[in-house]
Amino acid sequence: MERLQKVLAQSNIASRRKSEEIILAGRVKVNGHVVTELGFKVNKDDVVEVDDKPISRAEHVYFLMNKPTGYVSTTSDEKGRQTVIDLLDDNHRAMRVYPVGRLDYDTAGLLLLTNDGEFTNKMTHPEHEVEKEYLARVDGIVIRKKIQQLRKGVIIDEDYLAIPKAVRLIELDKEHQSTLLSITLIEGRNKQVRKMIEALGHEVKKLTRVRYSFLTLEGVERGSYRPLKIHEVKKLYGLATQKKS
Ligand code: URA
Repeated sequence: MERLQKVLAQSNIASRRKSEEIILAGRVKVNGHVVTELGFKVNKDDVVEVDDKPISRAEHVYFLMNKPTGYVSTTSDEKGRQTVIDLLDDNHRAMRVYPVGRLDYDTAGLLLLTNDGEFTNKMTHPEHEVEKEYLARVDGIVIRKKIQQLRKGVIIDEDYLAIPKAVRLIELDKEHQSTLLSITLIEGRNKQVRKMIEALGHEVKKLTRVRYSFLTLEGVERGSYRPLKIHEVKKLYGLATQKKS
C-alpha cells in the first residue's frame, strides 16, 4: 500500500507537494470515487485517475551507464545525433527511461537513467549535495597556484562563483605537457568542469565522470549499463532525504 501523493509523484504526474495540491483540489479519483484525503492509501490494483484520466503506474527502473563520448544525453536530438537511449536494449527503451541530469556529447562516464521523476528531482536538486567526481585531462601543466585558486572557487558564467567540493592533482605529465585532475562537484551547471578549467586559462582535453555519490563505473564497460540494485536506489533516496532535513 502506498500513499496517494506518492503514487502520483512516482507516476510523474507532479512533485509530491504539487500532487498533494491536486488531491486537495478534488481532481483525483480512486476506483471512481473522489479522494481528498492526503494519507489515503492505494494498492497496485486500485485505479487512480487524475482529471478523469487513469494514470499509468509503470514499474520504476534505474540504470547505471558508462556513457561513451559521441552521444547526447537526451532522449532525442534535433541534430540527429545518437543519444544514450540508443544504447539501451529494446525492452528497456520501451520503459521510457531518460537520463538523470546531463553529460556533454564529448564527456564519457557514469550516467544514471530512470523513469522515476521523483528520483530525478532528488538527485538533480543541488540542495541534496550528491557528489559527482570527474577526471579531467587538461592541456598544459596546471601550476600549484592555479590548483589552489580552483579549490577556492572560480567565476564562470560571468558572475557565478563555482566552488568544487574537492580537487586532487593526480598526474603532471611533463613529457606530453598535460595534467590529470580529479574534480568533485555537488552542482551541475552546463559544462561546469570545462568552464572552471577555462577560467584558469587551460582547456579540458578529455572528461570522464567516474563517481556519482557512492556509485562507480566498476564492472560496467564503456557503452554498456547495468540495473541499479534495490539497496543502491534506497541508499540514494536516503542520502537525498537526510540532506534535506
Ligand atoms: N562538466 C562538464 O564540463 N561537462 C560535463 O559533461 C559534466 C560536467
